[in-house]
Amino acid sequence: MKNLNSEFSVEQLVGEELEQLEQHFAEQTHPDELEQFDRASLKELVAEHETPFMVLDLEEVEYQYLALQAALPGVKLFYAVKSLSHPSLIKRLKNLGSQFDLATTGEVELVKGLGVQGEKCIHTHPIKKDKDIKAALEFGCHRFVVDNPAEVLKFIPYKDHVELLVRVSFRSQDAVVDLSRKFGCALEELPGLVNLAIENDLTVSGLSFHVGSQSLSPMAQVNAIKASVHAMNEMTHVHWKWLDIGGSFPVSYQGPVTPIEDFCAPLMDALKELPEDIEVFAEPGRFISAPAMIEVMSIMGKAKRGARIWYYLDDGVYGALSGQMFDHAKYPISPLKPVDPMGDFYPSVLAGPTCDSVDVVDEDIELPELQVGDIMVARQMGAYTIASATEFNYYPKPKVVVVEDLMDHTDDN
Ligand SMILES: Cc1ncc(COP(=O)(O)O)c(C=O)c1O
Repeated sequence: MKNLNSEFSVEQLVGEELEQLEQHFAEQTHPDELEQFDRASLKELVAEHETPFMVLDLEEVEYQYLALQAALPGVKLFYAVKSLSHPSLIKRLKNLGSQFDLATTGEVELVKGLGVQGEKCIHTHPIKKDKDIKAALEFGCHRFVVDNPAEVLKFIPYKDHVELLVRVSFRSQDAVVDLSRKFGCALEELPGLVNLAIENDLTVSGLSFHVGSQSLSPMAQVNAIKASVHAMNEMTHVHWKWLDIGGSFPVSYQGPVTPIEDFCAPLMDALKELPEDIEVFAEPGRFISAPAMIEVMSIMGKAKRGARIWYYLDDGVYGALSGQMFDHAKYPISPLKPVDPMGDFYPSVLAGPTCDSVDVVDEDIELPELQVGDIMVARQMGAYTIASATEFNYYPKPKVVVVEDLMDHTDDN
């Protein structure tokens, strides 16, 4: 850290805390984090729209979808609508040939209204009310996921119209969001569940799993594929048609993650063991939606508290940054104005606007000195962000501005 002594005097910092901060920040570098974006277009958007607002880049949606499809050749992609359900994104994916992973009647209604066909969808929520099953069937979606006996029995009235996938739980220590704690039967329970369905004249056609979201290693999925192949081979009395390998494909928030083609290569290898006539599905959410949206906020207040400068943003963890609480994500946030990497940086805090003290976005960020009114941009903000935003304190959720082509991929290899 170079100069702490501008508007706030260095004497105000507490000795030990200052030392630690200096050491921590001296190790950091300050690249231009928005260099991949078209800054001029961002500035135009800021001139046009009141902050806070989200910018959804449809070309980025397409880029991510095609990148994943290229890394998983032959695998049918069902976009997990829950991660970001903006109609423009759904329409773009529909035009690209994507299918859809739905979990609620609300999601059924949404995609139906956008012209998606029921047979292009799979209902993946392992726990449903009868009316949810009915709504999905009326829509034409007949593939459902189950993971327990009570759920299997709910399908008896619809036995001639449904095909079931049984979800198995495979825990992963490498996933940021553990989804196999709450859902999925144990592998040992699988034969009993399959047989219960068969005894009740229900059709079991597939297995599914979701090892957890934002998986930092492909190994859990590889092992889950191997175990599924083994289970299918054991249960020869079932006519297996599908294996659904879930979501979990990671994106980069604070540090790099395994590039998608490297992440998927071992999955493709493991899938080679499947009998040829089995179709493979995946349910990507985050990988497609996260990089496609940014949030533009402004600094609405500034205060020096102890050793740090607090900046109060006009959105926070009760708004679109809610993913910090629910999704365990930490979004990269930086000023819109170009930052001089050799300039002065200060230990700072970014806080949200609400009256709750839990509404702190980053307590440990170094920033050049900023002013009230300056614009801040949070990236990787598409997945599980606005989807879980509240309007606490009557702060409205940020609106979404839809654009084409805000990102530059010219340096990608
Ligand atoms: C059943 C199911 N499928 C797919 C997804 C999407 O996962 P991801 O965002 O990791 O791709 C989720 C996420 O919660 C899920 O619960």
